[in-house]
Amino acid sequence: MERNYLSINTDIWNEDAPNWVGVAHRLWGLETPEWGTWGNSETTVAMLPADMQGMDAVELGCGTGYVSWWMHKRGARVTAIDISAEQLATARKLATDHDAPITFIHGNAEATGLPDASFDFAISEYGASIWCPPDTWLREAWRLLRPGGRLEFLGNHPLSLICAPLDGSPADNALHRPYRNMWGADWTEVEFEPTGVCFNLTTSGWMDLFAEIGFAVTRYQELYAPEHAGGTRAAIPADWAKEYPVEHVWHLQKPE
Ligand SMILES: C[S@@+](CC[C@H](N)C(=O)[O-])C[C@H]1O[C@@H](n2cnc3c(N)ncnc32)[C@H](O)[C@@H]1O
Repeated sequence: MERNYLSINTDIWNEDAPNWVGVAHRLWGLETPEWGTWGNSETTVAMLPADMQGMDAVELGCGTGYVSWWMHKRGARVTAIDISAEQLATARKLATDHDAPITFIHGNAEATGLPDASFDFAISEYGASIWCPPDTWLREAWRLLRPGGRLEFLGNHPLSLICAPLDGSPADNALHRPYRNMWGADWTEVEFEPTGVCFNLTTSGWMDLFAEIGFAVTRYQELYAPEHAGGTRAAIPADWAKEYPVEHVWHLQKPE
């Protein structure tokens, strides 16, 4: 029987979890949050309200939990869900070390089982935002949010997927796959650095889906690598990511 993306992605994250422990320690120790593969600062990305006192916040695909910690430090009551037991083990250990009362749930961000309208704020940085089909996880986020609640998410810009060679080698300046009808990519069988199955849409595809669900877009950002960046990260050379948008950030609101 063919395995589905959920079991594939769960396995790759359980196997990969030890490689993220060092990064997790660094990110849990930051004063000012940094986002995405290239560490763009919260001072420009602005995904988190400065004051989250009294807010119920949920992180969908929390990995090692540093975004949840940043929200806790701003005063939120935080629930964080992840499908990988190994990633959650790192998150739980760091939460204990920092004395942070974050509620961690081992489960699927597309079907959390949490009550309707129980959160003021939802967020995903490279979690559900890339590993879950948009139509399922966005509807779950909508269900979880109270009227007026915000959803913030960051993931790969669709252009970075188009410029990624099909064998998994680093992005270049050629168009390797069609933009039209983009759904994501299956990286499980590629020659270089195989991973899991990830999801993405064209920009108008995202906009249409937000409108269909009911989300209002309050801001849209395209992120680049900072000028001082070098090397290659997540199969994207820094020089590419300085010229082309490597990540997108959507700031959404469920209307009152
Ligand atoms: C790159 S991490 C992003 C999270 C966090 N920002 C970090 O870097 O630690 C991706 C996480 O998404 C999780 N994930 C993938 N599919 C998921 C799903 N369906 N439900 C919940 N979590 C999922 C993985 O287990 C992994 O921990």
